[in-house]
Amino acid sequence: MRILIKNIKKLLQTYHSNDDVVPLKGQAMKNLPFLENAFVIIDNKRILDFGEMKSLNTEQHFDEEIDATNSLVMPGYVDSHTHLVHATTREDEFVQRIQGASYAEIAANGGGILNSAAKLANCSEDDLYASAWQRLQKAIAMGTTTIEIKSGYGLSVASELKMLRVIARLKENSPIPIKASLLAAHAYPMEYKQNHQGYIDIIINEILPVVAAEQLADYMDVFCEEGFFSVAETSTLLNAAAKYGLKPKIHANQLAASGGVQVGVLHNAISVDHLECVGQAEVDALLNSNTLPVLLPGAAYFLGMHYQPARMLIDAGLPIVLASDYNPGSCPSYNMNTIQSLACTQMKMLPSEALNASTINAACTLELQHEIGVIKKGYRANICILKDVHNEALIPYAFGENLISQVLV
Ligand code: NIG
Ligand code: FE
Repeated sequence: MRILIKNIKKLLQTYHSNDDVVPLKGQAMKNLPFLENAFVIIDNKRILDFGEMKSLNTEQHFDEEIDATNSLVMPGYVDSHTHLVHATTREDEFVQRIQGASYAEIAANGGGILNSAAKLANCSEDDLYASAWQRLQKAIAMGTTTIEIKSGYGLSVASELKMLRVIARLKENSPIPIKASLLAAHAYPMEYKQNHQGYIDIIINEILPVVAAEQLADYMDVFCEEGFFSVAETSTLLNAAAKYGLKPKIHANQLAASGGVQVGVLHNAISVDHLECVGQAEVDALLNSNTLPVLLPGAAYFLGMHYQPARMLIDAGLPIVLASDYNPGSCPSYNMNTIQSLACTQMKMLPSEALNASTINAACTLELQHEIGVIKKGYRANICILKDVHNEALIPYAFGENLISQVLV
C-alpha cells in the first residue's frame, strides 16, 4: 500500500538520512527542522520518501492520496509514561483533595494506589483489556502513536501478572508500538506496610522470574518516594531486575527530594520521571549521565503541585521529555495536546521544545528513536495531520482543543 501526502503546508521534524537521532539537549531543544510545501510518501507503513512538492515525481502510482493543503504534518506523540490499564476512576479522591486532603494523606489511609489495587483485584482480565483498549483508541485519536504502559495496580503476584498480560494483549493487537514496564514496586500492600522485605522478596522471587520468562516487561519501574520505596529498597529492586536485563525507568522526586534521581542515575536508568522536586544536586547528577529527565506536568496540574522546573533543566543543558502520566489518581488525561499547553504556559517551554520533548526525545526513553519520533526515511509512518493549522505554536495555544484531524499509524 503506497500513500502520498501532498501539498503539506509545513512538514515538521524532517531529518535527513545521515542525521543522527539523539536526544536534543539544552539550546538544541528548540531546533525544529521543517519543510514547506512538502510531500511524504508512505510505503508499507514506513516513510519511503519526503521532500518539497517541486521535486515530487508525479509519474508514480499511489493507492491513496491525501491532500494536506493548509495543513501541518508532524510525527505522532510518543507518550513514554502511562498507567493506561486500571479498573475504575477515583473521582471521590479528587473531591477529597478539593476539600483539603493531600495526595500523600489519601495514600497513607489506604486510598490512592491501594484503592486502585483493590478494585483491580476484582476485575477480570477481559474487562481490564476492554477498558484499556478504549482508552488506547482515544489516545491515538488525540495524536499518540507510541505508548508505554505500566503495571503497578496489582501489588500481588496474580494481579501484577494479570496487568502485564493485559498489556501484552494490547501490544499484540495495537496498531501503535507499546512498551511495558513492571511497576510492582508502586506501593506496599497494606499487609506488608510493616514488612517491606516480605513484599520485596515477593517481587524478586515470585514476580520478576515469571515476568522475565514470559517476556512480559521491557523495563523495571519503582516509585522511589517517602512513604513508598526508599532509595535503598529501590537499589535492591533495580539490582534484581538488572539480572534479568530489565533496565530502570523510575518514578522519582514527585513529592519530595527523595534521592530518586541519584539512585536512578547510579543504576543507569533510561529515564527518571516526575521531578517536581529537584535542585542543583539532581541537575548535576543528570548532567553526568545518559539518564533522561521525564517531566509530567499533568500530574502537577491535577494534584495542584508546583510544576517541574523545565527551564532550569533546559538552561543547564539537559534534554527534556514530556509525558502524560495518564492514571486514575494523579492525571486522568492522556491528551498530549494539553500536556503541550501546560508545558508552555506553566513551565515556560517553547512550543518547539515541548514538541521535541514529546516526540524525538520521548522516543529515546523507549529506545525507539531508530524508527519513531521524527520524519525520516525508513521510519514508521506514525504521522499526525493538522488541518488549517499553519504553525506548531497553535497546538499549545489552542488549549483544551485537539487540532489533530487525522492520525496515520
Ligand atoms: O505517576 N506517583 C506514582 N504513581 C502515579 C500515580 C498513581 C496513582 O495515584 O494511582 C503517578 O503519578
Ligand atoms: Fe506515573
